[in-house]
Amino acid sequence: MAQKIIVTGGAGYIGSHTTVALQDAGFDVIVLDNLINSSEKSLHGVEKITGIHPEFIHVDCTDRDATRNAFKKHSDAVGVIHFAGLKAVGESVEKPLMYYRNNLDSLINVLEMMREFNIPNIVFSSSATVYGNPDILPVTEETPLKPAQSPYGQTKVMGEEIIRDMVRATPTINATLLRYFNPIGAHPSGQIGENPRGIPNNLMPYITQTAIGMREQLSIFGDDYDTDDGFCVRDYIDVNDLARAHVAALRHMINGAHGANVFNLGTGHGVSVMEMVNAFESATGVKIKYKIAPRRPGDVPAIWADATHAKRVLGWSANTPLVDTLASAWRWQQNPDAKD
Ligand code: NAD
Ligand code: UD1
Repeated sequence: MAQKIIVTGGAGYIGSHTTVALQDAGFDVIVLDNLINSSEKSLHGVEKITGIHPEFIHVDCTDRDATRNAFKKHSDAVGVIHFAGLKAVGESVEKPLMYYRNNLDSLINVLEMMREFNIPNIVFSSSATVYGNPDILPVTEETPLKPAQSPYGQTKVMGEEIIRDMVRATPTINATLLRYFNPIGAHPSGQIGENPRGIPNNLMPYITQTAIGMREQLSIFGDDYDTDDGFCVRDYIDVNDLARAHVAALRHMINGAHGANVFNLGTGHGVSVMEMVNAFESATGVKIKYKIAPRRPGDVPAIWADATHAKRVLGWSANTPLVDTLASAWRWQQNPDAKD
Protein backbone atom coordinates (compact mmCIF):
# COMPACT_ATOMS: atom_id res chain seq x y z
CA MET A 1 0.00 0.00 0.00
CA ALA A 2 1.31 3.41 -0.96
CA GLN A 3 1.87 5.79 1.95
CA LYS A 4 -0.64 8.60 2.02
CA ILE A 5 0.24 12.30 2.21
CA ILE A 6 -2.26 15.13 2.73
CA VAL A 7 -1.23 18.19 0.71
CA THR A 8 -3.05 21.39 1.66
CA GLY A 9 -2.88 24.02 -1.08
CA GLY A 10 -2.00 21.20 -3.48
CA ALA A 11 -3.78 22.83 -6.43
CA GLY A 12 -1.44 25.84 -6.23
CA TYR A 13 1.87 26.55 -7.93
CA ILE A 14 4.33 24.76 -5.64
CA GLY A 15 1.70 22.30 -4.40
CA SER A 16 0.92 20.95 -7.86
CA HIS A 17 4.60 20.40 -8.67
CA THR A 18 5.09 18.72 -5.31
CA THR A 19 2.10 16.49 -5.98
CA VAL A 20 3.86 15.30 -9.14
CA ALA A 21 7.11 14.68 -7.21
CA LEU A 22 5.25 12.78 -4.47
CA GLN A 23 3.40 10.61 -6.99
CA ASP A 24 6.67 9.98 -8.84
CA ALA A 25 8.10 8.81 -5.51
CA GLY A 26 5.18 6.38 -5.00
CA PHE A 27 3.10 8.33 -2.48
CA ASP A 28 -0.70 8.52 -2.57
CA VAL A 29 -1.56 12.25 -2.56
CA ILE A 30 -4.76 13.77 -1.15
CA VAL A 31 -5.17 17.45 -2.08
CA LEU A 32 -7.10 19.83 0.18
CA ASP A 33 -7.65 23.26 -1.35
CA ASN A 34 -10.31 25.98 -1.39
CA LEU A 35 -9.13 27.13 -4.85
CA ILE A 36 -8.94 30.75 -3.70
CA ASN A 37 -5.79 31.23 -5.76
CA SER A 38 -5.82 28.21 -8.07
CA SER A 39 -8.04 25.95 -10.11
CA GLU A 40 -8.69 22.24 -10.44
CA LYS A 41 -7.11 22.50 -13.89
CA SER A 42 -3.74 22.13 -12.22
CA LEU A 43 -4.76 18.70 -10.96
CA HIS A 44 -5.75 17.70 -14.50
CA GLY A 45 -2.28 18.89 -15.47
CA VAL A 46 -0.83 16.64 -12.78
CA GLU A 47 -2.80 13.71 -14.20
CA LYS A 48 -1.46 14.42 -17.69
CA ILE A 49 2.07 14.18 -16.32
CA THR A 50 1.82 11.22 -13.94
CA GLY A 51 -1.32 9.41 -15.14
CA ILE A 52 -2.83 9.81 -11.65
CA HIS A 53 -5.47 12.36 -10.66
CA PRO A 54 -4.94 12.96 -6.95
CA GLU A 55 -8.01 12.77 -4.74
CA PHE A 56 -9.25 16.34 -4.34
CA ILE A 57 -11.25 17.66 -1.39
CA HIS A 58 -12.58 21.19 -1.76
CA VAL A 59 -12.06 22.54 1.73
CA ASP A 60 -11.16 25.82 3.36
CA CYS A 61 -8.59 24.91 6.01
CA THR A 62 -9.79 27.80 8.17
CA ASP A 63 -13.07 25.84 8.50
CA ARG A 64 -12.29 23.53 11.41
CA ASP A 65 -15.18 21.10 10.94
CA ALA A 66 -14.61 20.74 7.21
CA THR A 67 -10.88 20.23 7.81
CA ARG A 68 -11.67 17.61 10.46
CA ASN A 69 -13.90 15.71 8.04
CA ALA A 70 -11.14 15.64 5.44
CA PHE A 71 -8.52 14.50 7.94
CA LYS A 72 -10.88 11.91 9.45
CA LYS A 73 -11.35 10.36 6.04
CA HIS A 74 -7.56 10.15 5.64
CA SER A 75 -6.43 9.58 9.21
CA ASP A 76 -4.05 6.87 7.94
CA ALA A 77 -1.88 9.57 6.29
CA VAL A 78 1.80 9.49 7.31
CA GLY A 79 2.32 13.19 6.75
CA VAL A 80 0.98 16.59 5.79
CA ILE A 81 2.54 19.18 3.54
CA HIS A 82 0.98 22.51 4.38
CA PHE A 83 1.11 24.91 1.42
CA ALA A 84 -2.34 26.48 1.95
CA GLY A 85 -1.94 30.18 2.48
CA LEU A 86 -2.20 33.61 0.92
CA LYS A 87 1.10 35.00 -0.36
CA ALA A 88 0.75 38.47 -1.87
CA VAL A 89 2.98 40.79 0.15
CA GLY A 90 1.30 44.06 -0.90
CA GLU A 91 -2.20 42.72 -0.32
CA SER A 92 -1.16 41.57 3.15
CA VAL A 93 -0.20 45.16 4.02
CA GLU A 94 -3.67 46.33 2.94
CA LYS A 95 -5.60 43.42 4.48
CA PRO A 96 -3.54 42.23 7.44
CA LEU A 97 -6.41 40.56 9.32
CA MET A 98 -7.34 38.52 6.27
CA TYR A 99 -3.74 37.26 6.10
CA TYR A 100 -3.46 36.48 9.81
CA ARG A 101 -6.87 34.79 9.78
CA ASN A 102 -6.22 32.69 6.70
CA ASN A 103 -2.61 31.72 7.21
CA LEU A 104 -2.65 31.17 10.96
CA ASP A 105 -6.13 29.66 11.39
CA SER A 106 -5.46 27.16 8.62
CA LEU A 107 -2.12 26.17 10.16
CA ILE A 108 -3.58 25.79 13.66
CA ASN A 109 -6.47 23.69 12.35
CA VAL A 110 -4.08 21.42 10.45
CA LEU A 111 -1.90 20.97 13.55
CA GLU A 112 -4.93 20.21 15.71
CA MET A 113 -6.12 17.59 13.25
CA MET A 114 -2.66 16.02 13.17
CA ARG A 115 -2.86 15.64 16.94
CA GLU A 116 -6.41 14.37 16.88
CA PHE A 117 -5.72 11.71 14.24
CA ASN A 118 -2.11 10.92 15.18
CA ILE A 119 -0.54 12.02 11.92
CA PRO A 120 3.14 12.31 12.79
CA ASN A 121 4.88 14.54 10.21
CA ILE A 122 4.40 18.03 8.77
CA VAL A 123 6.31 20.01 6.17
CA PHE A 124 5.66 23.76 6.36
CA SER A 125 6.18 26.34 3.59
CA SER A 126 8.25 29.09 5.12
CA SER A 127 10.12 31.78 3.23
CA ALA A 128 13.45 33.57 2.96
CA THR A 129 11.41 36.64 3.88
CA VAL A 130 12.01 35.66 7.55
CA TYR A 131 15.65 36.84 7.15
CA GLY A 132 14.62 40.37 6.14
CA ASN A 133 17.63 42.33 4.87
CA PRO A 134 20.50 40.14 6.07
CA ASP A 135 23.83 41.61 7.26
CA ILE A 136 25.92 38.73 5.92
CA LEU A 137 25.51 36.71 2.71
CA PRO A 138 24.78 33.94 1.98
CA VAL A 139 22.26 33.26 4.74
CA THR A 140 22.45 30.03 6.70
CA GLU A 141 19.71 28.59 8.88
CA GLU A 142 21.55 30.19 11.84
CA THR A 143 21.39 33.70 10.37
CA PRO A 144 19.36 35.78 12.85
CA LEU A 145 15.80 36.49 11.75
CA LYS A 146 14.82 40.13 11.27
CA PRO A 147 11.44 41.67 12.06
CA ALA A 148 9.09 40.78 9.22
CA GLN A 149 8.53 43.50 6.62
CA SER A 150 4.86 42.64 6.02
CA PRO A 151 1.93 40.82 7.62
CA TYR A 152 2.56 38.04 5.07
CA GLY A 153 6.14 37.69 6.30
CA GLN A 154 4.93 37.85 9.87
CA THR A 155 2.60 34.87 9.27
CA LYS A 156 5.68 32.86 8.25
CA VAL A 157 7.67 33.90 11.33
CA MET A 158 4.67 33.14 13.55
CA GLY A 159 3.89 29.92 11.69
CA GLU A 160 7.40 28.64 12.37
CA GLU A 161 7.07 29.53 16.07
CA ILE A 162 3.65 27.92 16.41
CA ILE A 163 5.00 24.70 14.91
CA ARG A 164 8.10 24.71 17.11
CA ASP A 165 5.98 25.18 20.25
CA MET A 166 3.60 22.45 19.21
CA VAL A 167 6.39 19.97 18.40
CA ARG A 168 8.04 20.73 21.76
CA ALA A 169 4.76 19.92 23.49
CA THR A 170 3.97 16.89 21.32
CA PRO A 171 7.00 14.60 20.91
CA THR A 172 5.08 12.28 18.57
CA ILE A 173 4.89 15.05 15.95
CA ASN A 174 7.85 16.07 13.79
CA ALA A 175 8.15 19.09 11.55
CA THR A 176 10.30 20.35 8.71
CA LEU A 177 10.29 24.09 8.11
CA LEU A 178 11.39 24.85 4.57
CA ARG A 179 12.52 28.40 3.84
CA TYR A 180 12.05 28.85 0.10
CA PHE A 181 14.08 31.44 -1.75
CA ASN A 182 12.55 32.51 -5.11
CA PRO A 183 10.72 29.61 -6.79
CA ILE A 184 10.43 29.97 -10.57
CA GLY A 185 9.78 27.88 -13.67
CA ALA A 186 7.27 25.20 -14.51
CA HIS A 187 7.09 21.48 -15.11
CA PRO A 188 9.14 20.65 -18.25
CA SER A 189 5.95 19.29 -19.87
CA GLY A 190 4.37 22.78 -19.75
CA GLN A 191 1.24 21.21 -18.18
CA ILE A 192 1.49 22.95 -14.79
CA GLY A 193 3.06 26.22 -13.74
CA GLU A 194 2.51 29.55 -12.01
CA ASN A 195 -0.72 31.27 -13.01
CA PRO A 196 -1.01 34.52 -11.08
CA ARG A 197 -4.37 36.28 -10.99
CA GLY A 198 -4.25 39.82 -12.36
CA ILE A 199 -1.03 41.75 -12.80
CA PRO A 200 1.90 39.68 -11.51
CA ASN A 201 3.89 41.01 -8.56
CA ASN A 202 6.77 38.62 -9.07
CA LEU A 203 9.55 38.94 -11.60
CA MET A 204 9.32 35.65 -13.48
CA PRO A 205 5.63 35.75 -14.45
CA TYR A 206 6.05 39.43 -15.35
CA ILE A 207 8.88 38.51 -17.72
CA THR A 208 6.96 35.67 -19.41
CA GLN A 209 3.79 37.78 -19.70
CA THR A 210 5.83 40.59 -21.26
CA ALA A 211 7.42 38.10 -23.64
CA ILE A 212 4.03 36.86 -24.84
CA GLY A 213 2.64 40.40 -25.18
CA MET A 214 0.20 40.45 -22.24
CA ARG A 215 2.25 43.28 -20.65
CA GLU A 216 3.78 46.13 -22.55
CA GLN A 217 7.10 46.17 -20.75
CA LEU A 218 8.84 45.04 -17.60
CA SER A 219 9.62 47.66 -14.97
CA ILE A 220 12.96 46.88 -13.39
CA PHE A 221 12.78 48.18 -9.83
CA GLY A 222 16.02 50.05 -9.17
CA ASP A 223 19.41 50.11 -10.91
CA ASP A 224 21.40 51.81 -8.17
CA TYR A 225 21.70 49.13 -5.53
CA ASP A 226 25.04 48.40 -3.92
CA THR A 227 25.43 45.14 -5.87
CA ASP A 228 27.84 44.12 -8.66
CA ASP A 229 25.67 45.52 -11.47
CA GLY A 230 23.38 47.80 -9.43
CA PHE A 231 20.34 45.49 -9.71
CA CYS A 232 18.66 43.47 -6.96
CA VAL A 233 20.01 39.98 -6.45
CA ARG A 234 17.95 36.89 -5.57
CA ASP A 235 18.34 33.13 -5.41
CA TYR A 236 15.97 31.74 -8.08
CA ILE A 237 15.19 28.07 -7.52
CA ASP A 238 13.54 25.76 -10.02
CA VAL A 239 10.10 24.72 -8.75
CA ASN A 240 10.73 21.07 -9.66
CA ASP A 241 13.89 21.04 -7.56
CA LEU A 242 11.89 22.67 -4.76
CA ALA A 243 9.21 19.99 -5.11
CA ARG A 244 11.79 17.20 -4.74
CA ALA A 245 13.00 18.78 -1.51
CA HIS A 246 9.56 18.19 0.03
CA VAL A 247 9.81 14.49 -0.77
CA ALA A 248 13.30 14.40 0.77
CA ALA A 249 12.04 16.21 3.89
CA LEU A 250 9.16 13.77 4.33
CA ARG A 251 11.40 10.75 3.86
CA HIS A 252 13.83 12.16 6.41
CA MET A 253 11.02 12.31 8.99
CA ILE A 254 9.47 8.98 8.01
CA ASN A 255 12.94 7.47 8.48
CA GLY A 256 13.13 8.76 12.04
CA ALA A 257 14.19 12.43 12.17
CA HIS A 258 12.67 14.02 15.26
CA GLY A 259 11.79 17.52 16.38
CA ALA A 260 11.45 20.62 14.23
CA ASN A 261 14.17 21.03 11.62
CA VAL A 262 14.69 24.01 9.36
CA PHE A 263 16.25 24.11 5.89
CA ASN A 264 17.02 26.82 3.36
CA LEU A 265 15.93 25.83 -0.12
CA GLY A 266 17.88 27.75 -2.72
CA THR A 267 20.57 27.20 -5.30
CA GLY A 268 23.30 28.95 -3.32
CA HIS A 269 23.80 31.47 -6.15
CA GLY A 270 22.60 35.04 -6.48
CA VAL A 271 21.35 36.32 -9.86
CA SER A 272 20.51 39.97 -10.57
CA VAL A 273 17.32 41.18 -12.24
CA MET A 274 19.28 42.21 -15.34
CA GLU A 275 21.03 38.85 -15.46
CA MET A 276 17.60 37.20 -15.35
CA VAL A 277 16.35 39.28 -18.26
CA ASN A 278 19.47 38.47 -20.28
CA ALA A 279 19.29 34.78 -19.38
CA PHE A 280 15.63 34.63 -20.43
CA GLU A 281 16.43 36.22 -23.76
CA SER A 282 19.22 33.77 -24.49
CA ALA A 283 17.22 30.74 -23.26
CA THR A 284 14.18 31.56 -25.41
CA GLY A 285 15.36 33.88 -28.15
CA VAL A 286 12.61 36.33 -27.14
CA LYS A 287 13.48 39.98 -26.42
CA ILE A 288 12.08 41.56 -23.25
CA LYS A 289 11.12 45.20 -23.44
CA TYR A 290 11.97 46.88 -20.15
CA LYS A 291 12.41 50.22 -18.46
CA ILE A 292 14.26 51.17 -15.32
CA ALA A 293 11.78 52.19 -12.62
CA PRO A 294 12.21 53.43 -9.04
CA ARG A 295 13.09 50.99 -6.30
CA ARG A 296 10.12 48.99 -4.95
CA PRO A 297 9.50 49.76 -1.26
CA GLY A 298 10.40 46.82 0.96
CA ASP A 299 12.80 45.14 -1.51
CA VAL A 300 16.06 43.96 0.00
CA PRO A 301 19.12 44.66 -2.19
CA ALA A 302 20.47 41.11 -2.20
CA ILE A 303 19.79 37.74 -0.66
CA TRP A 304 20.84 34.21 -1.51
CA ALA A 305 20.99 30.94 0.35
CA ASP A 306 23.66 28.82 1.84
CA ALA A 307 21.93 25.55 0.96
CA THR A 308 24.58 23.16 2.26
CA HIS A 309 22.54 22.07 5.29
CA ALA A 310 19.82 20.58 3.05
CA LYS A 311 22.48 18.83 0.99
CA ARG A 312 24.22 17.38 4.03
CA VAL A 313 21.11 16.28 5.94
CA LEU A 314 18.48 15.62 3.27
CA GLY A 315 20.81 14.67 0.43
CA TRP A 316 19.01 17.30 -1.67
CA SER A 317 20.37 20.02 -3.88
CA ALA A 318 19.02 22.14 -6.71
CA ASN A 319 20.44 20.90 -10.00
CA THR A 320 18.29 22.27 -12.81
CA PRO A 321 20.30 24.70 -14.96
CA LEU A 322 18.77 28.21 -15.07
CA VAL A 323 18.43 28.00 -18.85
CA ASP A 324 16.16 24.92 -18.51
CA THR A 325 14.08 26.61 -15.82
CA LEU A 326 13.54 29.68 -18.01
CA ALA A 327 12.65 27.50 -20.99
CA SER A 328 10.04 25.64 -18.90
CA ALA A 329 8.54 28.93 -17.68
CA TRP A 330 8.22 30.05 -21.29
CA ARG A 331 6.76 26.72 -22.44
CA TRP A 332 4.12 27.00 -19.70
CA GLN A 333 3.33 30.61 -20.62
CA GLN A 334 2.71 29.51 -24.21
CA ASN A 335 0.33 26.67 -23.26
CA PRO A 336 -3.13 28.30 -23.17
CA ASP A 337 -5.01 25.02 -22.64
CA ALA A 338 -3.54 24.39 -19.22
CA LYS A 339 -4.62 27.73 -17.75
CA ASP A 340 -7.96 29.34 -16.85
P1 NAD B 1 -0.36 29.43 -4.48
O1 NAD B 1 -1.24 30.57 -4.16
O2 NAD B 1 -0.19 29.02 -5.89
O3 NAD B 1 -0.80 28.14 -3.64
C1 NAD B 1 -1.43 28.22 -2.39
C2 NAD B 1 -2.68 27.35 -2.45
O4 NAD B 1 -3.33 27.39 -1.19
C3 NAD B 1 -3.67 27.83 -3.51
O5 NAD B 1 -4.06 26.73 -4.30
C4 NAD B 1 -4.83 28.36 -2.68
O6 NAD B 1 -6.07 28.21 -3.34
C5 NAD B 1 -4.72 27.53 -1.41
N1 NAD B 1 -5.29 28.13 -0.20
C6 NAD B 1 -5.08 29.37 0.29
N2 NAD B 1 -5.75 29.52 1.44
C7 NAD B 1 -6.38 28.35 1.67
C8 NAD B 1 -7.24 27.89 2.71
N3 NAD B 1 -7.60 28.66 3.73
N4 NAD B 1 -7.71 26.61 2.64
C9 NAD B 1 -7.38 25.82 1.61
N5 NAD B 1 -6.59 26.20 0.60
C10 NAD B 1 -6.09 27.45 0.64
O7 NAD B 1 1.07 29.74 -3.82
P2 NAD B 1 2.45 28.97 -3.93
O8 NAD B 1 3.41 29.86 -4.61
O9 NAD B 1 2.24 27.60 -4.43
O10 NAD B 1 2.86 28.94 -2.39
C11 NAD B 1 2.63 27.81 -1.56
C12 NAD B 1 3.11 28.13 -0.17
O11 NAD B 1 4.51 28.48 -0.22
C13 NAD B 1 2.42 29.33 0.48
O12 NAD B 1 2.24 29.07 1.85
C14 NAD B 1 3.40 30.47 0.27
O13 NAD B 1 3.27 31.46 1.23
C15 NAD B 1 4.72 29.73 0.41
N6 NAD B 1 5.82 30.42 -0.27
C16 NAD B 1 5.74 30.73 -1.60
C17 NAD B 1 6.78 31.40 -2.23
C18 NAD B 1 6.70 31.77 -3.68
O14 NAD B 1 7.51 32.58 -4.12
N7 NAD B 1 5.79 31.21 -4.47
C19 NAD B 1 7.92 31.77 -1.50
C20 NAD B 1 7.99 31.42 -0.14
C21 NAD B 1 6.93 30.74 0.46
C1 UD1 C 1 8.62 38.53 -3.01
C2 UD1 C 1 8.27 38.89 -1.60
C3 UD1 C 1 8.55 37.70 -0.70
C4 UD1 C 1 7.78 36.50 -1.20
C5 UD1 C 1 8.12 36.24 -2.66
C6 UD1 C 1 7.25 35.15 -3.24
C7 UD1 C 1 8.50 41.32 -1.40
C8 UD1 C 1 9.31 42.43 -0.81
N1 UD1 C 1 8.98 40.08 -1.18
O1 UD1 C 1 10.03 38.25 -3.04
O2 UD1 C 1 8.17 37.99 0.62
O3 UD1 C 1 8.10 35.35 -0.43
O4 UD1 C 1 7.90 37.42 -3.44
O5 UD1 C 1 5.93 35.54 -3.37
O6 UD1 C 1 7.49 41.53 -2.02
N2 UD1 C 1 11.26 42.88 -9.85
C9 UD1 C 1 11.31 43.82 -10.86
N3 UD1 C 1 10.19 44.04 -11.58
C10 UD1 C 1 9.01 43.38 -11.38
C11 UD1 C 1 8.97 42.41 -10.36
C12 UD1 C 1 10.12 42.18 -9.60
O7 UD1 C 1 12.34 44.44 -11.08
O8 UD1 C 1 8.04 43.64 -12.06
C13 UD1 C 1 12.47 42.60 -9.06
C14 UD1 C 1 12.32 42.92 -7.59
O9 UD1 C 1 12.70 44.22 -7.31
C15 UD1 C 1 13.25 41.87 -6.97
C16 UD1 C 1 13.25 40.72 -7.96
O10 UD1 C 1 12.74 41.23 -9.19
O11 UD1 C 1 14.53 42.38 -6.91
C17 UD1 C 1 12.39 39.57 -7.50
O12 UD1 C 1 11.11 40.06 -7.15
P1 UD1 C 1 9.91 39.10 -6.78
O13 UD1 C 1 9.76 38.06 -7.81
O14 UD1 C 1 8.72 39.94 -6.47
O15 UD1 C 1 10.42 38.35 -5.46
P2 UD1 C 1 10.94 38.96 -4.06
O16 UD1 C 1 10.72 40.42 -3.98
O17 UD1 C 1 12.32 38.47 -3.87
